[in-house]
Amino acid sequence: MNNKEKSPFTPGSPVPYELFVGRQKQIREIFRYVDQTSMGKQDNLFLMGDRGIGKSSMASFIRHFVATQKNFLGIHVFLGKVSTLEEMVRLIFEQLLKEVHGQTWFGNISELFGKYIKQIGLFGISIGFTPPKQDLEELVKRFPEALSNLLKKMKEQRKGLFIALDDINGLVEKVEFANWYKSFVDEVATHYNEFPVYMMLIGLPEKREMLSHLQPSLMRIFRIVEIDKLSNEEVGQFISQAFESVKMKISQEAMDLMVKFSSGLPVLMHEIGDAVFWIDSDGTVDREDALQGVLSAAKHVGEKYLDPQIYRVIQRSQRYNSILKKIGAPLSRNFVKKDIETRLNENERRVFHNFLRRFKKLGILETDIEHGSGAYRFVNEIYPIYIWMQSQEPKPS
Ligand SMILES: Nc1ncnc2c1ncn2[C@@H]1O[C@H](COP(=O)(O)OP(=O)(O)OP(=O)(O)O)[C@@H](O)[C@H]1O
Ligand SMILES: [Mg+2]
Repeated sequence: MNNKEKSPFTPGSPVPYELFVGRQKQIREIFRYVDQTSMGKQDNLFLMGDRGIGKSSMASFIRHFVATQKNFLGIHVFLGKVSTLEEMVRLIFEQLLKEVHGQTWFGNISELFGKYIKQIGLFGISIGFTPPKQDLEELVKRFPEALSNLLKKMKEQRKGLFIALDDINGLVEKVEFANWYKSFVDEVATHYNEFPVYMMLIGLPEKREMLSHLQPSLMRIFRIVEIDKLSNEEVGQFISQAFESVKMKISQEAMDLMVKFSSGLPVLMHEIGDAVFWIDSDGTVDREDALQGVLSAAKHVGEKYLDPQIYRVIQRSQRYNSILKKIGAPLSRNFVKKDIETRLNENERRVFHNFLRRFKKLGILETDIEHGSGAYRFVNEIYPIYIWMQSQEPKPS
C-alpha cells in the first residue's frame, strides 16, 4: 500500500489524455469542423483562456483524438520562445518530420526535406530539421505550397493535417505574423480546392485582441473557442479517476474538500491532488490527508504562481493577514469595500484603506469599475484562493 512510485497528478504539464476531463461542448464543436476539414476545407481556430486554465491540455487531447480516430497527422508545437517566422516554420516542419519518423511511409515524405534532415543519435534525440536561413525564408513565403506538397505525399496514409501552434503570445505581437497568417489563409482559399489542414492557435485572451488590432481582417478568419473553469462535478470526476488509476481510495469528505479548494481551476486540482497523493500513507485518502494536502499545495502555489514580492507581503504581514481572513472564506474574486468593513474590528478598519492601496499597488487587487465605486477584484483567480487556502493554517496550540 505504501509503495508510492509515481503520482498521477501532473501540476505544470498538460494532462495525459486518459485523465482529461470536461470541455465536452467545445470538443464536440471542434470535431465537427475537423470533419469538414477532412473533406478538404482549411479551417482556423483560436483557442483562448487564462493562464493554467487548460489550453495546452485540450489541444493535446484533441491532437490525440484526431490522430487516432480521424486519421489525421497531428502536431502540437510550442512557440513560447519563438520570435521569428523562420524559426516557427522550422519547428512546424521538424515536428511533422518527427511525427512521421518511424512510420513505414517515412521514405515518401523525407525527400521533401532534402538533405537537411539531421539524424541525431546522441541522448536518444531522434531527428532534426536544420535548413539554412535562405531555405527557411522560402518556406515562410511558400508555406501553403510546402504543406500542399506534403499533403499530396501522404494522401494514401492520412486524411489531413492538424497543427496546433501553442503559446503564440510572443509571436502575435508582431505585425509580420498577423500578415503572414492572413496571406496563408487567403492564398489557400484562392489557389487550392483541397487543403485539409486544421490550424489551431493557442494563447491568452488579450492576444486575440492584439492580433485583431494588427490585422483586423484576421478576426473574420478564426473561429473562437474560449475555455474557463471546470465545474465541481468535472473536478470530482478528475480526482476520482486519478486516484483510481493508482488504486487509491478516497473518502467522500476528503473528496468534497479537494473539490472545494480546487475552485474549478485545473492547476489547483493538480497541485492539491499531488500534495495529497504524497501525504497519504495508507492508500485511503481521508479528511486529514486532504486538509494537510491543501495546506501543502498552498505553499507550492504561493511559491510557483505568485510573484515573489507579492508572496512575501502576504506571508509576512500579520495585520494584513487577519484582514485577509475576514474578507471571507471562500474569498470571492470580487468584493465591495463597505461589506468587508462591517466584518472588521476597529483596528483593522483603520488600516483597511492602506491595505487596499498597498494591494492595488502590488498588482494583487484592482478597482472593479463595472461594479461601481468601492468595488474591488483580485487580478486573477489564484490569489483569492491562495489566500483562502493559507488561512486554513492550523493555529499553534
Ligand atoms: N481538462 C483537464 N483535465 C485534467 N487536467 C487538466 C485539464 N486541463 C488542464 N489540466 C491540468 O491543469 C494544469 C494546467 O493545464 P495546461 O498547461 O493545459 O493549461 P494552459 O492553459 O495551457 O496554461 P498556460 O497558460 O500556462 O500555457 C496542468 O497541470 C494540466 O495537467
Ligand atoms: Mg499551455
